[in-house]
Formats: sequence, C-alpha cells, structure tokens
Amino acid sequence: MRIRDLIYEVAGIFHPDHKLHLLLDRCGRRMTELEVNTLREYFEYLTIKPMRQIELVALLNEITIGETCFFRNQPQLDALRQIVIPKVLQARSKLPQRRLRVWSAGCSTGEEPYTLSMLMLEEARGRLKDWTVEILATDLNERSLTYARNAIYGAHSTRHLAPYYRQKYFSPVADQLQLRTVARGSVTFSRLNLSDDVRMTFMKNLDVVFCCNVLIYFDLASKRRVIQHLYNNLQPGGYLFLGHSESLYKVSDEFQLVHLPGATAYVKEPGHKGERRAL
Ligand SMILES: C[S@@+](CC[C@H](N)C(=O)[O-])C[C@H]1O[C@@H](n2cnc3c(N)ncnc32)[C@H](O)[C@@H]1O
Repeated sequence: MRIRDLIYEVAGIFHPDHKLHLLLDRCGRRMTELEVNTLREYFEYLTIKPMRQIELVALLNEITIGETCFFRNQPQLDALRQIVIPKVLQARSKLPQRRLRVWSAGCSTGEEPYTLSMLMLEEARGRLKDWTVEILATDLNERSLTYARNAIYGAHSTRHLAPYYRQKYFSPVADQLQLRTVARGSVTFSRLNLSDDVRMTFMKNLDVVFCCNVLIYFDLASKRRVIQHLYNNLQPGGYLFLGHSESLYKVSDEFQLVHLPGATAYVKEPGHKGERRAL
C-alpha cells in the first residue's frame, strides 16, 4: 500500500500487515471528510493535489493519537529527582551557565512535560536553586499540541495525580482541572517530527531526554536514526529515559545502561564527546 510507504517515509511510523487495518480506518476518516471514494484518489490528495502538505498533517493527526497521563511512571520520576538530577547538576556545575534543558520528545497532549515541570518546581528551592529550567515539549500531532497548550485535563489524564499536586498546581474548570500558570511557564511546545533529520540536529545541549512510548511506532532503522540524534544532542553526562517496556537492545550500543530503583535509563558517558552521523 503506497500510503503506508508514504507515512513511513515521512514520519518513520511503520504499519506492519497486522496493523494495516488501523491505517485504513484513519484514511477512511479523512476520506469521509474529503468526500473521496477510493484510496487511489486519496493518495493523490496526499501527494499531488496542491493541499498535500495540509492533508498529510491531517492524516498524521489521525494516526498519532497517543495514550498518556500525568505521573505515568512513578519509579522513573523518583529516579529522575533523586539520582539523575543530582548527577546531571554535578556534571554541569563546571559550566558557567546554570541552565538545565529537558526534552519531552513525543509529548502527546502535554501530561509528561507538565509532570516534569511540577517536579522541577518542587526542586526549585532545593537542588535547582539558582538554576534556570527549560522544558522543550515536541510532538508530530498538532492537535495534541493545541490541547497541551490549553492545559485542561479530565479524569483519565489525572488519575495518578496525588492530592498534593492536584491542590498545589491545578484549578478546577467545570468538571476538569486546569494546570496553573506557574507550572506552564517553563514548558515550550512545538511541532517536531522525530524523523526530520535536519530539524533534529538543532535540538542541541540537552541534559535529560524523555522519549517514552514513542519509538514503539517505529521500525528498527527509524529507531536507530532517532536514537543517534538523541545521543548527539545530549550533553556528555546527559540521560535518556524510554518507556517502561522499551529498551535500546539492538538499537544502539553507545549509551550506558543505568539500573535505577524500579526503572532504567541510558547515560551518555561523560568521556564521549564525539558525534556520529544519524544517516
Ligand atoms: C503514546 S504517546 C506517548 C506520550 C508520552 N511520551 C508518554 O509516554 O506518556 C506517543 C506520541 O508519539 C508521537 N509521535 C509518533 N511518531 C512521531 C514522530 N515521528 N515524531 C514526533 N512525535 C511522534 C505521537 O503523536 C504521540 O503523541
């Protein structure tokens, strides 16, 4: 199916045969919207018609709807606060600028970067006193990003939110919760395709990257490219977190695997300064 190849080429997302029905379903939604009857005609919308860029974005919005929630992986977050941040600060302490750059790559509707923002605020009077924290949050799905910028969440997203965080950082809006401005200020959302090799080279000087539950959509070759970019863009001594069931086994052997209580992470060893080409 040529649409499958196109999506793979553009976004690195591969639909194996047993998941092809999902892609057909998403194409079907767009075809109904456009009143297009055949896949052949729809392929033309994606490739030839003047609106092809817009239609491609619309189809990617349908394909990449991502499950997420606040405080999705508590052991990982505990390890970030108690082990990883102190180590990163130590590695960065010799640099003149007291700035910490954290990236939520594949942030979906914003729960992950906002969770990180709350945790960093909790550290602001302690370990992170006098540090500037920047949280970059990117995703391919622009509808998710619009939702994230609005920062209003329902019961499903907030199901793991402890009363402490609920009271301190959220205000009720009808039957939902809106994140307060204080926890939104350090987060910058933008649309970024992790398969866009040119834009990926600009995501420099990162201290911690969360790329959780994103690469599950990718095949091995696309995963390798993305991970190579993440490696290149991390500072020496920087950390990468993946989703609970993900690993870099057979993907990359450049990172050092770190076992943390209840979680794992990958560190770019401080001695490694070299970059490799992602392609
Ligand atoms: C399951 S969600 C993960 C959300 C969050 N990281 C978490 O773990 O809760 C996966 C996200 O990856 C995004 N995604 C998929 N392919 C992508 C690509 N090529 N570039 C950027 N984001 C992508 C999807 O849009 C979706 O929002």
